[in-house]
Amino acid sequence: MKIEKTSASKLAHVNFENLTFGSVFTDHMFVCKYKDNKWHTPEVIPYQPLSFEPSMSVLHYGQAVFEGMKAYKDDQGKVWLFRPDQNFKRINRSAKRLQIPEFPEEYFFEGLKSLLEIDEEWIKPGIGNSLYIRPFVFSSQACVQASPSSEYTFIIICCPVKAYYGGEVNVLIAEEFSRAADGGIGYTKAAGNYGAQFHPTALAQEKGYQQIVWTDAKSHEYLEEAGTMNIFFKINDHLITAPTNDRILDGVTRKSVIQIARDSGIEVEVRPIKIEEIVKASENNSLKEMFGSGTAVVINPIKSYGYKGINYKLPELENPLSSKLKDKIMSIQYNLSEDPYGWRVALDQSLSSIAAISGLK
Ligand SMILES: Cc1ncc(COP(=O)(O)O)c(C=O)c1O
Repeated sequence: MKIEKTSASKLAHVNFENLTFGSVFTDHMFVCKYKDNKWHTPEVIPYQPLSFEPSMSVLHYGQAVFEGMKAYKDDQGKVWLFRPDQNFKRINRSAKRLQIPEFPEEYFFEGLKSLLEIDEEWIKPGIGNSLYIRPFVFSSQACVQASPSSEYTFIIICCPVKAYYGGEVNVLIAEEFSRAADGGIGYTKAAGNYGAQFHPTALAQEKGYQQIVWTDAKSHEYLEEAGTMNIFFKINDHLITAPTNDRILDGVTRKSVIQIARDSGIEVEVRPIKIEEIVKASENNSLKEMFGSGTAVVINPIKSYGYKGINYKLPELENPLSSKLKDKIMSIQYNLSEDPYGWRVALDQSLSSIAAISGLK
């Protein structure tokens, strides 16, 4: 791998106390190009603009997928990743569906390691501080032909982020719009899945809701995801979440929540959930909690939901399960507790052992 260090670090000019999510980028980026049927030598270079032709395929056909993951620094200054094997597998699952060539595992982990080592000072210790890592790949051939590109570019960029409180979340249940359909690309992190959410979300925001709860495209009767998070419901003592399928993203946080909740003795039901059931549970006061899960916020409690013109409020609990689950996951991420699952991976761990987690070596 080629490494070119920046001669002008931006680090001293960044106000780490005042970071807008996803808008400040570290000094370096990882880049690897696919051409002539193979991925070429990857490089870590100074973060910089790209240049491209207006005919670049991704601008026309949207052949692009991405990932979102984080690195954490503990109080001893050691850097950790959380289940990075899951993000690696998922970007290639997404790539395959979009007919993008799979990215080699050793390039992914070697690239990630080199990039984080070179930009390590950008990772601040302290619970809530982290480095958001954005791997993405797109078709980069200059050609307006509606067919798979013969050239691709894989990049990893990183942004320092502060403790991210999702704030108050009131959600509107989708009665008309859909995020994904059977046989489609909902289970992938394809760029177009997100662009298509903006308009319905803007309409919901006009009505005072922050996010949409996506329902199944066929009947709009089943609850599937909350904005860009997986969704959980607590009815009495049971935690319920929808099963993943070709419409729902297999979230890393979701599967961690399920495992931790089960190991804490909580009954977790992974099954389709009808809106009707949730409305009934609201009416008879058995709906205790509703929350979204995702890398950016870990867990975001939902305050109320709107459906068919009625707004249903969730009770305000003193010690909600969502907070306990969030604490347990963050304690593992920040090396503040034991990690019985082997989810926490040290950056200085050898590359082969990071790769071994994914079971690919
Ligand atoms: C549509 C969607 N659902 C769920 C999630 C949560 O996934 P994860 O927990 O892996 O971040 C994300 C974020 O990546 C997402 O974009």
